Amino acid sequence: MTDIIEKLKNIVGDTHVLSASEVAERATHFWDPSPMIAKALVRPANTSEVSKVLKTCFDANQSVVTHGGVTGLADGEKSTDNDIVLSLERMNTIETVDAVNRSMTVQAGCILQTIHDAANEAGLLYGVDLGARGSCTIGGNISTNAGGLSVLRYGMTRNQILGLEVVLADGTVITALNSLIKNNAGYDLKQMFIGAEGTLGVVTRAVLRLRSATPTRNTAIVAFDNFNQVTDTLAEVSRNLNANLNAFEILWNDFYRLSTNPEITGTSRAPLDRDYYAYAIIESRGASLEADSQQFQNTFESLLEKELITDAVIAKSDTEQQDIWQIRENVDLTLRHKPVFDYDISLPVNTMASYVEEITANTRKQWPDAVVFAYGHLADCNLHISISPTPDNFIHNTNEETVKIHSYSVDDAKKNDIVNKIVFQPLQAMGGSVSAEHGIGILKKKHLHYSRNAAEISTMQLLKKSLDPKGLLNPGKIFDPA
Ligand code: LAC
Ligand code: ZN
Repeated sequence: MTDIIEKLKNIVGDTHVLSASEVAERATHFWDPSPMIAKALVRPANTSEVSKVLKTCFDANQSVVTHGGVTGLADGEKSTDNDIVLSLERMNTIETVDAVNRSMTVQAGCILQTIHDAANEAGLLYGVDLGARGSCTIGGNISTNAGGLSVLRYGMTRNQILGLEVVLADGTVITALNSLIKNNAGYDLKQMFIGAEGTLGVVTRAVLRLRSATPTRNTAIVAFDNFNQVTDTLAEVSRNLNANLNAFEILWNDFYRLSTNPEITGTSRAPLDRDYYAYAIIESRGASLEADSQQFQNTFESLLEKELITDAVIAKSDTEQQDIWQIRENVDLTLRHKPVFDYDISLPVNTMASYVEEITANTRKQWPDAVVFAYGHLADCNLHISISPTPDNFIHNTNEETVKIHSYSVDDAKKNDIVNKIVFQPLQAMGGSVSAEHGIGILKKKHLHYSRNAAEISTMQLLKKSLDPKGLLNPGKIFDPA
């Protein structure tokens, strides 16, 4: 063991190999302050060092877990004391911004917010945005094919990547930093590594596609009495706001009540009455200040007239916009219920209401007081569900009690199995997915079969075997070897 640590120190320098006890000073996860576990953590400065680190690990049959911002939600970044953690934290710069080609070359450890800022400075925009923007890295976003808040307009991370540099398990560097929108010269290899959760290679650099900036922003929160209003409103705003429609986020009543509960949030006031069936945050972004605002206003007046919405608040300032978005971004409140089981599923929009009703009823058959928080990216067919069988067990003061996610007692684990069945079983028949955007990691591994058939899984195993023959990269994630 000392041998490999010494070799790694020779590659990256003594100070960039953290010992197990130094690693333990770090938190396991963004939302879990318990100590991180690893044999060591290595911080290379560039692609050449990443290659040497991986070659050294390959020769020593050493497993490697790659880390970006550790904000993932499927335990895909979890390491054991047998693993070397490879952190891209020093490779965090933007190498070039090409405003004419509308692209940007970045290192994998670059923070998402830094990318947004650099794109804005160039008068452009990067199309993926999500709540963890201040901590998550582009390498992690790529490895999980992150979705977020404007997928309905720009697609997921996969749709923003023009080129990629990846290092394979044996240290081979594939530099495919294509910056062209169109390039059909053979297989598009980068797609294999996007969403592979660090199991096929380590992403070191990427060329990102940039879009036209959208300086105008109009935001509203609306209330619905039933789900028909929701789907009719989605159709209507898609027609009226057309390409400017930037977000359509749904919040079912229980989530809205939690997120606007003044006793919990301390500050939030509910912009709309707290008794409606569901709410949506709808946002348009464009480039014509007056015309966009007028179009937005007209759209909501017409929605009210046609009774497609029951009530609405249109933000009149940046602060009001932020207050509305805060209601959606208070997701961590759901995780303060102990235990809570969280899901990230896809299903056709027209099945969502009956699905939420069905899983709520089935959960309450077991635990009559259970709460089901449903919210998410409706227009992307993606719901986030958090189920708390015993909602009274809520951590009020996060300073005193640690908010650990996914660490369950034996009794909680039994509850988790029951809830998993309730949530996952109906999805298969609907053609749904057990993971819309967070990935499989460890948490959803047992349930992969609901969404991928045997031929799909064996092809994944074949790919894994060809690119990582010793099974050293992020072992135990997504599926087991054949
Ligand atoms: C969100 C995360 C949970 O949409 O994916 O808030
Ligand atoms: Zn999401």
